[in-house]
Amino acid sequence: MTTHGISSDVSLAVNILSSGGIIGMPTETVYGLAACALDENAVQRVFDTKGRPHNHPLIVHLSPSMDFRKWGVFSADAEALATSFWPGPLTLLVPRTSIVPDWVTGGRDTVAIRVPSHPLAQELLTRTNTGVVAPSANKFGRVSPTSARHVLQDLGDEVDLILDGGECEVGLESTIVECTDVFQILRPGQISTEDIIRVTGRNPHQTTGPSRAPGMLASHYAPQAQVMIVDSLDDAQRIQREQSTLRSVHLIYFSDVTSYAEHLYDELRTADRNECELVIAVRAPSSGIGIAINDRLSKAAADR
Ligand code: TXA
Ligand code: MG
Repeated sequence: MTTHGISSDVSLAVNILSSGGIIGMPTETVYGLAACALDENAVQRVFDTKGRPHNHPLIVHLSPSMDFRKWGVFSADAEALATSFWPGPLTLLVPRTSIVPDWVTGGRDTVAIRVPSHPLAQELLTRTNTGVVAPSANKFGRVSPTSARHVLQDLGDEVDLILDGGECEVGLESTIVECTDVFQILRPGQISTEDIIRVTGRNPHQTTGPSRAPGMLASHYAPQAQVMIVDSLDDAQRIQREQSTLRSVHLIYFSDVTSYAEHLYDELRTADRNECELVIAVRAPSSGIGIAINDRLSKAAADR
């Protein structure tokens, strides 16, 4: 298939997906690399394009009009979370049904499902009328893309189309909540622990690690530059002054956490584009989406 570059033509995107192609898909969190879940060849191409191990499971994206119970077995907690937060930046990990193929789950007996709220994603999913897998549209281990331009920089002509839905509103990947025999948050995101407790009345465990969700490696979301996390803007500015005679430094700080989440990945990419050697990022307050920001910062700062 020839690449059509960046476009906002949803009909073209639907045609490409339905005929076995792969596309960059906007969502409210980050851009995904989309393929029809039931098309084995297209899904294999997603793994190859990302450079991701084939046994890493993928999230199935559904439109609000589709019946999510066809894809997963929903406990009372899972139903309550779906009702409250879908469409939106929440992924539920639930036991899979028989229609979910092994090539989506890496052979696991669970499936991750999400109903995105981005209007273009919804239109695409409604018209494609099947489950669509979409890992973040970056090369494996790199920073997730939050604009069509980022996807172009990472994947270029390896995708058939990049559907342009503007800049992602949230800017960090969805919260993943496991609702099986264990109830736990596998990846923090905009939907917070407090949100989950309010809806279910239960306190989820907090685990993020490769054992439960392969691909959640300690070093992830990583720019080329070394990343240092500090506690305050004063500390950041002092270290910047000390370091900048030795190394080129990029400082990341937003007083507003929503803006911090929205722009963090673009800031990390900017640092790389400017060939900075050191990124100094100020830790976010550890509540709400600040927990997700700090999670991604510590993964970006981890030893590679
Ligand atoms: O916001 C998002 O969730 C974005 C957008 C595009 O929807 N997608 C995304 O996908 O972040 P990905 O593949 O980059 O991250 C999904 C994570 C991976 O760490 C994967 O291992 C985990 O979810 N995951 C998916 N299915 C799983 C399963 N059955 N069991 C355990 N972990 C699973
Ligand atoms: Mg990813």
